[in-house]
Amino acid sequence: MFTILVANPKGGAGKSTLTTNIAGMLAALKQRVVIMDLDNQQSATNWLARRPDALAKIMPWTEDSDMGELRDFAPQWMVIDTHARIRRADRTYLLSRANVVLVPVNPSVFDIEATAKFLLKLHQDPNVQNGRVAIGLVGSRTDSRTRIAQELSSFFARSGLPVVAYIPDSVLYPQCARDGTSIYELPRARTEQQLEAWQPLVAWLKSQIARTRDIKRSAPQVSATVSAQAPR
Ligand SMILES: Nc1ncnc2c1ncn2[C@@H]1O[C@H](COP(=O)(O)OP(=O)(O)O)[C@@H](O)[C@H]1O
Ligand SMILES: [Mg+2]
Repeated sequence: MFTILVANPKGGAGKSTLTTNIAGMLAALKQRVVIMDLDNQQSATNWLARRPDALAKIMPWTEDSDMGELRDFAPQWMVIDTHARIRRADRTYLLSRANVVLVPVNPSVFDIEATAKFLLKLHQDPNVQNGRVAIGLVGSRTDSRTRIAQELSSFFARSGLPVVAYIPDSVLYPQCARDGTSIYELPRARTEQQLEAWQPLVAWLKSQIARTRDIKRSAPQVSATVSAQAPR
């Protein structure tokens, strides 16, 4: 199961928006996806509850989940939505399970400062240090014409990490949040600009699947340990 951890220490950074739209995108591609929602606010869980029956099923992965049902569902992807303050022990555990971490960042000095500290913590993690887990940055609600968006992109450039998407500000996201859907499940005519903005993120995820396969091939013992820890 390919696991995407979505994390940023700032509330409102776009974590739940990214989580739900990635899950919706994968489900629309006929992939079997589960969401683990670690935020008390339960935004992603509530989004799932609002999801229309006509759309491809996405299952919640919670402590109370029926493991038999999840096993039958046989998820290929897990997207983990997190809250603002993940404790160190939880971060370490989550990074031991994740294949990639996506870090959405708002174009704001406060968010940039908080994210800089968070990236330092991520870099101290052994799974990030040894390259098993890749980090991708996402600009949230970014209008490239603004000065602060340029500051965000210089911050990203200084971090040396890949920038996998700049998501524009759009009413489509709160609408999708309300309706339990994603930009990938709306009529194309309305989402053209958004889908284009998401394209690099989709391409990056594809490249990460290939990378993960290569790691597994070259380190069978390590991958056996990791898959033993991963939920089945
Ligand atoms: N690209 C976007 N365009 C417009 N609104 C957005 C966008 N991304 C997020 N939002 C809105 O911003 C708010 C915070 O986003 P959310 O995903 O809940 O952040 P977090 O989960 O990090 O707290 C929500 O109301 C969401 O609908
Ligand atoms: Mg959230």
